[in-house]
Amino acid sequence: MDASPAQLAALVGELPPGPAYRTLSDAIRLLVVDGRLLDGTRLPSERALAAALGLSRTTTTRAYDELRRRGLLESRQGSGSVLRLPLAAASASSLIVDPDDPDTISMTYSAPTAPAGLARAFEQAAESLPGLLATTGYLPDGLPALREVLAQGYTDRGLPTDPGQIIVTSGALGAISLIGRALGAPSRRMIVEGCTYPHAVESLAGSGLRAMPLPVGDDPWDVDAARQLAPGADLAYLIPDFHNPTGAVMSEDTRADLARHLRRHDVVTVVDESLRRVNLDGVELPRSYLAHDPSAILVDSFSKVLWGGLRVGWIRAPHGLVTQLVQARMTQDLGSAAFDQLVVHAMMTGHSHLFAEHLDRMRRQRDVLVERLGQSLPRFRVDPPAGGPSLWLGLPGRTSSRLVAAAAEQGLLLTPGPRFFIGSPTAGERHLRLPITSREHVLTEAVARLARAWESVDDVRGPADPRAIDLIA
Ligand SMILES: Cc1ncc(COP(=O)(O)O)c(C=O)c1O
Repeated sequence: MDASPAQLAALVGELPPGPAYRTLSDAIRLLVVDGRLLDGTRLPSERALAAALGLSRTTTTRAYDELRRRGLLESRQGSGSVLRLPLAAASASSLIVDPDDPDTISMTYSAPTAPAGLARAFEQAAESLPGLLATTGYLPDGLPALREVLAQGYTDRGLPTDPGQIIVTSGALGAISLIGRALGAPSRRMIVEGCTYPHAVESLAGSGLRAMPLPVGDDPWDVDAARQLAPGADLAYLIPDFHNPTGAVMSEDTRADLARHLRRHDVVTVVDESLRRVNLDGVELPRSYLAHDPSAILVDSFSKVLWGGLRVGWIRAPHGLVTQLVQARMTQDLGSAAFDQLVVHAMMTGHSHLFAEHLDRMRRQRDVLVERLGQSLPRFRVDPPAGGPSLWLGLPGRTSSRLVAAAAEQGLLLTPGPRFFIGSPTAGERHLRLPITSREHVLTEAVARLARAWESVDDVRGPADPRAIDLIA
């Protein structure tokens, strides 16, 4: 694919102070790292880019030279300059980036380490292993005992469910990609929040579904826009509870209105509830979206309240879709790891107090992070959410990508705001997601590094504008 001079100039935006060739090559490198420029993209000629950016040709030539030196650009006579991602840079385009240097702090993923005591659930699972070993261990819809406990959980919440409606998957993302495989096709379209968890949308898009993002306003749910998009949509993907990355909670009225519009046009709605349990302040949440649309498909997992390493998630589907989903699964894998499901079952039946302890830890971490930010970066807007594993900061000016680049120089890896915006590669520069999931001393050090990084970026006067939001046209 080609990036036109105008497209690349829009993505690069205004260059910060400093040698222009360097800031330009840094800006392009960052666009590669956060996935907005993909491997194989052909960049415009140096002359065309210089004209689009109002820079000299020498500047763009030196910037491309710098990218070539870093192994990110390949230029061949006659075929122009093509972005090539070496392995390290390619993996950096994921939200999950683990630093090579042990002193580097990585806050690119919002997932906690395992709670103390999880090992006990492993031991307990090992005790019931002989029974499992006497089976084939192939569980395309999941471990029966676990499906029973999960179904009971919904029934207890007032959503009557039988185990036949539960399909255990490899994490919530495995659930989402399975739904994409079962229901997606290149001609089909999906409504998504304009600012959302990008891996989910990319996974669904991988099955051909085309995203129709809702405009982002005070919250990610523009009901009127959804009403207008619904007639052309086949699917919707929503995160109503402690939305990633904003932490917003969809109100009961919005749930009812959205469900009414989407149901009228038979839009199959996938509701990601995997953050619902990260209720740090124990607030009363509106009823599940399912209460307004019984045909919705729920997706959930324990990654955020237990441990992502288990890779156990699940789908709660209407009866009529279960067979289609399980059949689609059989084309990819034949079930999730049986032992890990046993561990989750042990956890739910014998060690559920660990969930509360885990949430306590995350609440304390959130409070420490909010306090340190208030002390060191008072011009950042911090609205602590009642739940969810991250803060969504408002930044003074459109500074997110520059701040993330400066933070990397300080040994702090972050994900820039635009990575979470769908449909508009330049939106999101006023925001930064900061996960609360690291230990308190790490968060304290991270804020110190962020503050140092901010000093090199801060050419914006005044605090974050509380009314400034990144609108997606
Ligand atoms: C909203 C949302 N859905 C799904 C996932 C993926 O979860 P899992 O680790 O269970 O696949 C995440 C992880 O960050 C998430 O934030």
